[in-house]
Amino acid sequence: MDFPSSRVDGQIAAVTGGGSGIGRAAAWALARAGADVVLGELPHLIGRAEEAADQIASATGRQAVALPLDVTRTASIASFVAGAVERFGRLDILVNSAGVNRTRPALEVTEEDWDFVLDVNLKGLFFCCQAAAREMIKQKRGKIINLASINGVVGYVKRAAYCASKGGVVNLTRALAIEWAPHGINVNAVGPTYIETPLTVPTLSDPETRADILRRTPLGRIGRVEDVAGAIVFLASPAADLITGHTLLVDGGWTAW
Ligand SMILES: NC(=O)c1ccc[n+]([C@@H]2O[C@H](COP(=O)([O-])OP(=O)(O)OC[C@H]3O[C@@H](n4cnc5c(N)ncnc54)[C@H](O)[C@@H]3O)[C@@H](O)[C@H]2O)c1
Repeated sequence: MDFPSSRVDGQIAAVTGGGSGIGRAAAWALARAGADVVLGELPHLIGRAEEAADQIASATGRQAVALPLDVTRTASIASFVAGAVERFGRLDILVNSAGVNRTRPALEVTEEDWDFVLDVNLKGLFFCCQAAAREMIKQKRGKIINLASINGVVGYVKRAAYCASKGGVVNLTRALAIEWAPHGINVNAVGPTYIETPLTVPTLSDPETRADILRRTPLGRIGRVEDVAGAIVFLASPAADLITGHTLLVDGGWTAW
């Protein structure tokens, strides 16, 4: 039998939030699996994405470039996608990893907190999907992988806006999967449990919260970015060609209870 590849050789992948955490690891893993990668990062943090791109290129032999991107500005998203296409001629894979959080009891969430989280995690993510899909539709194929979260399928305290944004990502992923399936575009999401990254320093450095997370996790450990990168590469690869609209939980068994 001839099984579809779990690699992404020769493909072009763009990763939002590529300068840090899961996005950086996803770009690295996609390059290791054969893709050329474009790392999008906020303009004032572009240096760290450039540094990551240099490390990825020398470690994998693939091309890796950093481009400025603010997902809260549709003009910036358009230039990011145009820049990727200008550089590589097309766009096969988009990983939406740009994300933010503000942990606060629901009664203390301000309108500004709410807009900050929803604008990046849900609205920005949607317009990145839209801009990439416009290119992918021309090619009649593409893979979009959205970073949802375990908090897209279960609630947690002090995360009203975050949980709302990630629940939105889970169902937006289904809606786009249905709409763009006729164009050969697969839209899926990955839902990680708590992973050690700069985003989770405030959460995981609180001993009580850390213990609560471990208690809820049958596999008994906090995640690493490497745990998530494999799921992203799989969903981007031909091995996942018949999977769309799905959220693949990388949750250590949290939701198996
Ligand atoms: N770390 C976790 O435990 C965890 C768990 C589940 C889901 N996630 C999700 O994974 C994604 C990546 O998170 P992470 O842990 O790697 O965080 P991180 O803070 O390490 O990385 C997030 C990246 O997004 C970038 N970013 C923020 N606002 C942006 C904007 N407006 N435009 C463009 N880029 C922007 C940041 O500069 C940063 O590079 C997020 O969507 C997050 O919600 C993380």
